[in-house]
Amino acid sequence: MKNPTVLASGLLGVNVEMLKRVVKEGAGAVTFKSIGPRVKSGHRNPTVLAYEWGVINAVGLPSPGYRDMGGELSRMKEVGAPVFVSIYGASVGEFREVAEAVAKYKPAMIEVNISCPNTEAEGMIFGCSEKLAFDVVSAVKNACGSVPVMPKLTPQAQNIGRVAKACEEAGADAIAAINTVGPGMLINIEARKPVLDYKRGGISGPAIRPVAVRCVYEIYEEVDLPILGIGGVTEGRDAVEMMQAGATAVGIGSGIYYRGIDVFSKVCEEMKVWMKGNGCKNVKELVGAAHE
Ligand SMILES: Cc1cc2nc3c(=O)[nH]c(=O)nc-3n(C[C@H](O)[C@H](O)[C@H](O)COP(=O)(O)O)c2cc1C
Repeated sequence: MKNPTVLASGLLGVNVEMLKRVVKEGAGAVTFKSIGPRVKSGHRNPTVLAYEWGVINAVGLPSPGYRDMGGELSRMKEVGAPVFVSIYGASVGEFREVAEAVAKYKPAMIEVNISCPNTEAEGMIFGCSEKLAFDVVSAVKNACGSVPVMPKLTPQAQNIGRVAKACEEAGADAIAAINTVGPGMLINIEARKPVLDYKRGGISGPAIRPVAVRCVYEIYEEVDLPILGIGGVTEGRDAVEMMQAGATAVGIGSGIYYRGIDVFSKVCEEMKVWMKGNGCKNVKELVGAAHE
């Protein structure tokens, strides 16, 4: 990666042309929106809303399914930066199936979105259970050969450090954290009903930054793997903070809404200014600095 900023999954990353544009705007790596086993239409609009301090969304993981994504996935080399492919499933078997299919395109990394419910385990969210997280990561590792695997954890886990440890024991090559916080709800008081059609939604943006920083800090204490820190990063100072908590790179999603698509180059420039002013010569010096 030419710099530590990464496009987070679900924002813009629905096709190669979008990913190319984000790289042009300065991202060091980009992530495809999560791909599932088959066509899924997602929730009805309204699905995304910005409020004072963040963004709430209930997009519902819409996906054409991995079969129909083949055309886009086979053009990954055109993007000009490492491409991560995010996958999801509703069972360990579905994760294995999608991972096997996607790995054939040799992405730089497979990101495993374990923030979704397991329909075979009473809807339990994979990332809330050390055992389910271990099972998914082991299955994905077995299915995708030499392609590195990075589970993406949920802040809903009671002990996110222990879930990260279970992923490491299952063979994960890196950890991404966090997915959205919540679920939350906002009500349109004039209409007297929730603003999202799905009622509940995940929260992202500046409001969740302290939760993300705490999660990355705890994961860093538990595992010996690179961490992609995601959640509320909109400025260079936020990226420095996330890296001091233990991240090797930072994901940016909602930041695009707050600062525009060139948020990636803006964050990098601001990081450089901060580093110069604080006697820091290499971004590696930042990683985990708040633990020393
Ligand atoms: C509209 C929207 C769609 C998202 N879709 C996905 C997705 O498909 N897969 C996933 O793993 N995360 C998804 N996320 C979560 C983001 O990748 C990220 O983890 C979260 O938004 C926190 O980062 P941020 O504060 O920089 O947005 C989505 C977030 C938003 C706002």
